[in-house]
Amino acid sequence: MKTHFRHDVLIIGSGAAGLTLALNLSSVGNIAVISKNRLKDGSTWYAQGGIAAVLNNQDSIDAHVNDTLNAGAGLCHESAVRFTVENSADAIQWLIDQGVDFTRNSNGQEYHLTQEGGHSHRRIIHSDDSTGKAVHSTLIERVKQADNIDIFEQHIAIDLILQTDNNSPRLRCSGAYIYSRSQDVTCTFEAKVVILATGGASKVYLYTSNPDGACGDGIAMAWRAGCRVANMEFNQFHPTCLYHPKAKTLLITEALRGEGAHLKLPNGERFMHRFDERGELAPRDIVARAIDHEMKRLGHDHLYLDISHKPKEFTSSHFPTVKKQCLTFGIDITTEPIPIVPAAHYTCGGIMVDQHGLTDLNNLYAIGEASFTGLHGANRMASNSLLECIVYARSAADHIRQQLPLIRATETPQAWDDSRVTDSDEDVVISHNWDELRRFMWDYVGIVRTHKRLERAQHRTKLLQKEIAEYYSNYQISNDLIELRNLVTVAQLIIRSALERKESRGLHYSLDYPSLNNISRDTILVPTNLAAQNIIVKHR
Ligand code: FAD
Ligand code: SIN
Repeated sequence: MKTHFRHDVLIIGSGAAGLTLALNLSSVGNIAVISKNRLKDGSTWYAQGGIAAVLNNQDSIDAHVNDTLNAGAGLCHESAVRFTVENSADAIQWLIDQGVDFTRNSNGQEYHLTQEGGHSHRRIIHSDDSTGKAVHSTLIERVKQADNIDIFEQHIAIDLILQTDNNSPRLRCSGAYIYSRSQDVTCTFEAKVVILATGGASKVYLYTSNPDGACGDGIAMAWRAGCRVANMEFNQFHPTCLYHPKAKTLLITEALRGEGAHLKLPNGERFMHRFDERGELAPRDIVARAIDHEMKRLGHDHLYLDISHKPKEFTSSHFPTVKKQCLTFGIDITTEPIPIVPAAHYTCGGIMVDQHGLTDLNNLYAIGEASFTGLHGANRMASNSLLECIVYARSAADHIRQQLPLIRATETPQAWDDSRVTDSDEDVVISHNWDELRRFMWDYVGIVRTHKRLERAQHRTKLLQKEIAEYYSNYQISNDLIELRNLVTVAQLIIRSALERKESRGLHYSLDYPSLNNISRDTILVPTNLAAQNIIVKHR
């Protein structure tokens, strides 16, 4: 069985970010795309609302920039915002050139643009209410057609391979150890350049809109390898996920509110104007907190989103996916209100990168939700995430194209050694710890936080981390164990960052520090294990 692979470029993750990068490098060297499940199993596939971009003369770059800065509550990096927005129209054109079929106006000519919270203009281009599927299926089709892209599904990256770099004081990344789930063997993937496009970490919470794989693997791997991470306390909770005992992760797109849906209390009363003059279209942090506040005040476990006042044909044609999915749970959105709750949705923080997606390690890039570019600040504005994936993947591709000819091959890394571990007879440790972690993160590190709750959570993560590290050093690797090890690391990064922030800003709201500091600053965590070569020998 082959367990050693060599490529020019190793892309870990097959969402919008990873596949955009792969396609923009398709004329350069040979590329491996690694995906821990099937290619389509990331958040990208599930995106509903659309992609924000400046696409007509009624809108402007400055307006999109200002809306993003406002939603980000004083913490966005203006240069990153401007860079992203200035490249938004090109990014959309690239998607159209790949074959993405965006929804057009009824005249069949211009593209239909919808509205979402925080945006002062209609600027969200979309494919009905299943934009992610339209974008992702197109990119998957194109990647499958490319001759120089090798696809490895059911392969999960465990850790990065690091080596010293003769030309630089910084370490360089030269590949990754990757566990093949289907063959139950750990392989060595060598590459001149490695990209983490592993998505977010919302699975660290009990209730989330994200699919199962969103465990922050890339963030945890980069942290262990010696990269800085920033602003991990800003976990975005989407205000409206379906509340139903059988609905695991069903999002009700913000575009419903953009097209006039109302948030309501159980008695039918609207309440958002008591919290913000923009009402239902206030930025997400404000809406989620308002819902949380009203649920707690009234002792209810959900509220309602109502679009039943709109004509049936309008709702059916704009939101066919949401309508169909709700009907499977017996809810007809054209005639009745939808029961909703907020759920963990997006990781605003991540691996620190520059404008090309380059991290603190030579030849290691991070793009998409795993990265921290400075775009989102303390609260991501709706539909800016897919845009960031495309813009930064294309920028990273430009940089990699220039760098590749200059990168020399390294020594062959050590093969993965698991000769000293045994099969576990206690897998319940993994499932128990998964549940415990996600529950206390929800209860203690959720929408509204206190110092005491954060300290409680920190105490528990330390215990869990110790137990998981011990388990990891003694027993055979599995997908769940790799993810759990990463989840507990990410939980620690979130809690540490939240404890460091002594104010309430954007998505981080603390009852102990309810006001906003005059000076805004990022929370940057610096790993102490900069002697990251340890990773190579440390794993067993
Ligand atoms: P993902 O699409 O999450 O892909 C991550 C990839 O990495 C997957 O292929 C996964 O299998 C792989 N992976 C992870 N870890 C490993 C590992 N250890 N080894 C190998 N592979 C690994 N944003 C918008 O802008 N507009 C929207 O309308 C919108 N709607 C959304 C609706 C929902 C329900 C959700 C969940 C999110 C939505 N978002 C939206 C956010 C947006 O979809 C995501 O931020 C974006 O798709 C992230 O893309 P990505 O490529 O970074 O990661
Ligand atoms: C939605 O459609 O409400 C999700 C949009 C986003 O997360 O950007």
